[in-house]
Amino acid sequence: MSPTIIECKNVTRIFNPGENEVRALAGVSFKIEKGEYVSIMGKSGSGKSTLLNTLGLLDNLTSGQYILNGNDVSNYSEKKLTKTRLKSFGFIFQSFNLMNNITCLKNVELPMLYAGINGQERKKRALELMDKMQILDQANKKPMTLSGGQRQRVAIARALANSPDVIFADEPTGALDSTTTKNILNLLKELHLSGNTIVVVTHDIGVAKSADRIITIKDGLIESDVMNL
Ligand SMILES: Nc1ncnc2c1ncn2[C@@H]1O[C@H](COP(=O)(O)OP(=O)(O)O)[C@@H](O)[C@H]1O
Ligand SMILES: [Mg+2]
Repeated sequence: MSPTIIECKNVTRIFNPGENEVRALAGVSFKIEKGEYVSIMGKSGSGKSTLLNTLGLLDNLTSGQYILNGNDVSNYSEKKLTKTRLKSFGFIFQSFNLMNNITCLKNVELPMLYAGINGQERKKRALELMDKMQILDQANKKPMTLSGGQRQRVAIARALANSPDVIFADEPTGALDSTTTKNILNLLKELHLSGNTIVVVTHDIGVAKSADRIITIKDGLIESDVMNL
């Protein structure tokens, strides 16, 4: 068995506590091992993004425990949270979330810039990653001039920049056509086969099925958790 990277124990996330509160996560418990490729599936509003944001340390949980690499994140300082997000996690979003006023190359370099890596090394690694994602020829263009699929490849290269422990993707193919979706899913599969731990959130069963394990959530609770091999 591989070491556990992520463990949630009865995690809740309640928005607007009080009369009109929303229990986006109503008590979820599960573990993810190093190297797993997991999808989290559920209808719109079921709590998928909230769960992903919690796992990615982009949002705080309300109660329960989140154990990351054996450490309870509630003990993390703000500084440690930021450092973990930057160095241990890579993020891929439906709308790519690229900076449109800088080149694709600079977008891929950005996490390394924040991590304090020198300019020469940044550029070298960013170009390598763009080559791997087959978008090297787009390096000096601004994101807006690229197709959706190309932009998502830039975002994946950026997610890989600091060699993260976990790649989190929230509806990564939600803005793409079916052919491009297939290509991006193949890419994620390749990344998984080369050892990356990947967590993908989606409402699309077709996307969910590309993972080795499917966790289904409904109303903020885990409904099922099955292997898909
Ligand atoms: N910042 C927020 N404030 C209030 N309610 C929120 C917030 N974010 C999400 N919610 C609510 O929490 C529930 C789960 O949302 P979300 O995690 O975005 O679902 P999904 O990603 O599965 O569509 C929904 O009812 C949503 O309206
Ligand atoms: Mg969502």
